[in-house]
Amino acid sequence: ADEPAQEFKAPVLCILGHVDTGKTKLLDKIRHTNVQTGEAGGITQQIGATNFPDYALRELIAKLPNMKIDIQIPGLLIIDTPGHESFSNLRSRGSSLCNIGILVVDIMHGLEPQTLESLEMLRKRNIPFIVALNKIDRMYGWKPMQDEAFFTTFNQQDENARDEFMRRARETVIAFAEKGLNAALYYENPDPEEYISLVPTSAITGEGIPDLLGLIVDITQTRLNKFIKYSPQLRATVLEVKVIEGLGTTIDVILANGEINEDDTIVVAGFEGPICTNIRALLTPQPLREMRVKGEYQHHKSIRATAGVKISAQGLDHAMSGSQLLVAESEDVIPYLMEEVQKD
Ligand code: GTP
Ligand code: MG
Ligand code: NA
Repeated sequence: ADEPAQEFKAPVLCILGHVDTGKTKLLDKIRHTNVQTGEAGGITQQIGATNFPDYALRELIAKLPNMKIDIQIPGLLIIDTPGHESFSNLRSRGSSLCNIGILVVDIMHGLEPQTLESLEMLRKRNIPFIVALNKIDRMYGWKPMQDEAFFTTFNQQDENARDEFMRRARETVIAFAEKGLNAALYYENPDPEEYISLVPTSAITGEGIPDLLGLIVDITQTRLNKFIKYSPQLRATVLEVKVIEGLGTTIDVILANGEINEDDTIVVAGFEGPICTNIRALLTPQPLREMRVKGEYQHHKSIRATAGVKISAQGLDHAMSGSQLLVAESEDVIPYLMEEVQKD
């Protein structure tokens, strides 16, 4: 079929960073959810995915005083990853799927071991990213202004809070320089291709979140516009394998390109050999709801990229997370796909 030449798909945005820097809390703030408080020990232990529609972006970005952004992307697919050191494999999987990253740094702590590990993953894969310099509300004497753009709130802070912020921001810039990297507060960035942009945020008060998302939208639509065009060539990866009451073993899949349909014959890698099965139900969480949290699912006959999708089918018990998902267009290709999928 003829696809319109300019059709954008939702970019995949991955959130990475050291444990407890506020990755999940930032997402909770922009989704109006409460996922973080429900986590055991407040620690994320799985990769999450949230389908984030453009209308929600538009609402958040509206707070930006000086940035007029025409949103052309249909939304974002946001992937949350754990920061705990033992989940390096999940950070690697998350970062391998994304178009753009947010590296979250706690402004009170600076660069920490998994900050650096995440940074390396992004750089190795050549993924553009920005830094959320999070927890600015913890500056001594900070007077929060709920959900406001950074400048709006910064301008009404008293001198002490502003000084402390500037000192900590400077320290972060120096810490990056010690790693051989140029970084700058995003509104002073002389060259975003050369300097990492630091965006001050608070996941508790929502301050700076308009700036953070505004910048993400801007970068995807300008620097990344070539990479986020829809094409029919299927690209899908199994994120997690999960037993869900009433559905049996399901796979959570990131559909990065192409289209999947109910009843499609799919092939995924398995611990006991490749698995070939038919899609019984094609589900998504509600918009702005986390896929890893139990909730109401929307049923679909067909889904096109980009989307976080839950697939229910028989025989998925030993499916392997991280596997590619392939669709067999005919019976004859199944043996070939089964060999292909088990390769990596
Ligand atoms: P992992 O997924 O386990 O790596 O942690 P995370 O990066 O997702 O951090 P999380 O969202 O679990 O937040 C860790 C703690 O920091 C929680 O107690 C949050 O309430 C708190 N927190 C997160 N962001 C902010 C912030 O901007 N300001 C303040 N004051 N606290 C924050
Ligand atoms: Mg988390
Ligand atoms: Na945490």
